[in-house]
Amino acid sequence: MKVSVKVPASTANIGPGFDCLGMALPIYDTITIEETVLPGTGIEINLMAEDETVDEMTFENIPKDENSLIYKAIEMLYNSIGQEPSELRINVQSQIPIARGLGSSAAIIVGGLLAANKLLGNPADETAILAIATEVEGHPDNVAPAILGGFVLSNQEDDGTISYCKLKWPEEWDITICIPDFQLATDIARSVLPKEVPMQDAIFNAKHLAMLVQAINTKDSKLMKLALKDRLHQQYREKLVPGMTEIMNAFAHEDGILGCVLSGAGPSILIISHNYDTDKIKAIVKDIWETQNIKVDIRTMGIEEQGARFE
Ligand code: HSE
Repeated sequence: MKVSVKVPASTANIGPGFDCLGMALPIYDTITIEETVLPGTGIEINLMAEDETVDEMTFENIPKDENSLIYKAIEMLYNSIGQEPSELRINVQSQIPIARGLGSSAAIIVGGLLAANKLLGNPADETAILAIATEVEGHPDNVAPAILGGFVLSNQEDDGTISYCKLKWPEEWDITICIPDFQLATDIARSVLPKEVPMQDAIFNAKHLAMLVQAINTKDSKLMKLALKDRLHQQYREKLVPGMTEIMNAFAHEDGILGCVLSGAGPSILIISHNYDTDKIKAIVKDIWETQNIKVDIRTMGIEEQGARFE
């Protein structure tokens, strides 16, 4: 038996929603798991680039054994029903650029879990899949939209379960993703964050996240422009993303730009706009990054409302 799952990319944090807000994007990985016939063949993992922006060289540094995230996720699922995974061929066809803050690891984890779950006869429900995916990924903000699609506010409760709510993204707000040609591993981007933050910064993010939810629910562009700010992660990651400050400053006072934020842990930058010439956004970002010898792939897209699906 062979099962394929197509999983969307995602952008997380969206300004003040550190580790809890995420949005699915129309870029996809397809994960296929096949039961191999011969006993004792173990697990085989193959990664293939399906888009020129996915650097195949990167695959050489990604574990393809029991240390891989997809293996860990599948193993947790099998163990939850008292089994061990074996005799599986896992193929990942990847369009999501790796280590750019676009949820590539979340997509692989989610695709692996959903495909393995189907092979096993669906022992895990959505709650269990969300919990295992979050356990492997470390936070729910990418895995939740990868599974559910759309714009999702999620939280890992003390008992490990994931609670979430979906918010309706206003269609008139454009999403532009600027993907530089350098990578930033999430563990490095998290290692620069402090263990504790000043109370004022925590309050700042709480207020802005509340404003953001209200802005989305009422399609209030002015409120969204005030809301898309952060003091919990971006300032610490600035030193890891050359050009980030210049790009954010370039758009800070532009009418029609609602916000310019780090996509997930970076280094990609997410720009949200309303009635603004997206070609102008592209020209400004390209100019700043290219003067620093950084090539950039810039795409304006809609939100992906559908989550992971079987092919
Ligand atoms: N919320 C996460 C972070 C997203 O910013 O580290 C990256 O996976």
